[in-house]
Amino acid sequence: MVYEEGVWLMRLLKYLFQYRFRHMGELMRNAKKDALECNEDFKGKRVLLSGATAGIGLETAHLFAKNGAELVLLNRNPQKAERLKKELEDSYGSKVTSLIVDFNELAQVQSCADTLLEMKEPLDIIIHNSGVFNTTKQFSKDDIEMVFQVNHLGAFLLNYRLKERLKKENRARIIFVNSEGHRFALAGVHTKDLRWRWHWYSGFKSYGASKTAQLLTMYRFQEYFAGSKVTINAMHPGNVRSAMGENNGRLYNYLKKKLILSSALDPDISAKALHYLALSPNLEGVSGKFFHLTEEELPAPHARDMSAVDAVWEKSLELCGLNEV
Ligand SMILES: NC(=O)c1ccc[n+]([C@@H]2O[C@H](COP(=O)([O-])OP(=O)(O)OC[C@H]3O[C@@H](n4cnc5c(N)ncnc54)[C@H](OP(=O)(O)O)[C@@H]3O)[C@@H](O)[C@H]2O)c1
Repeated sequence: MVYEEGVWLMRLLKYLFQYRFRHMGELMRNAKKDALECNEDFKGKRVLLSGATAGIGLETAHLFAKNGAELVLLNRNPQKAERLKKELEDSYGSKVTSLIVDFNELAQVQSCADTLLEMKEPLDIIIHNSGVFNTTKQFSKDDIEMVFQVNHLGAFLLNYRLKERLKKENRARIIFVNSEGHRFALAGVHTKDLRWRWHWYSGFKSYGASKTAQLLTMYRFQEYFAGSKVTINAMHPGNVRSAMGENNGRLYNYLKKKLILSSALDPDISAKALHYLALSPNLEGVSGKFFHLTEEELPAPHARDMSAVDAVWEKSLELCGLNEV
């Protein structure tokens, strides 16, 4: 435990020394830039999208369906999922497959991966969007800290199970809806304390850790797909109005309304940015990058520390009950 504390402090100092004012300046400039737009349509493209029943995912499902995409939607709430499927079919005549999966239970993610692998048609675009923000420490059905599981392990497990198939199909663009919030995990991911027993838990820190873990494992997936046409990237979708965090009670919702929603943008900007990242010919072959909407940006030092990749990768495999192949 004392050893862990020392390591944590050393890591924090190492990362703080790597910060550069010009990178922070870029971040602020990017926050003011409009996202690039893409005129390509999705005709003939099959898109896997998680978390489509609210916020950014909902807006994205509509935009993509309107532009001709065939959708495979992963949602946890059967009623909302059914309503959305009907809405998309009625409004745009889209082909929609709806799968129910709660990322809070890894067995459900495993059987969702089985179902996806049974489908014959290839996937062109995969958008991992489901996410949660908790102000108090909570645990999943697998007894793993919930934010880490829902935001990181769910998408990690799906990618891991699909990776061989995707490499063979040689075409997918995989996009993580990540966050500038990865910056809150100043010392990186505490892989030896994912239950937050020795480190003080906060909503910002756990959210930052989950998004950092996603970025670090992205580099390993990128290596796996190297030499194929499959790309994997992450994006920050902007500070947008959505249901994120509404599960946290009245005080949180009051503060969100006063402090966040007043400057938040419409989630259609995130959907348009995802449209660009999914289809723009300018991004052919671009992989392993982080985008602020559509602008490439350098993640925080702790989220591009290649010496931290192995520990997060191995811990993610272990928690998902996977054996490296
Ligand atoms: N909003 C922002 O400003 C912002 C900024 C940076 C990053 N992001 C990221 O953007 C992504 C989308 O968030 P949002 O802002 O659109 O939030 P949102 O409106 O709360 O939507 C989250 C989606 O994820 C689903 N979800 C939540 N927990 C799940 C679980 N256990 N299993 C399966 N699905 C689950 C939700 O389903 P239900 O409808 O059933 O609740 C919903 O469809 C997240 O990854 C978030 O971290 C958002």
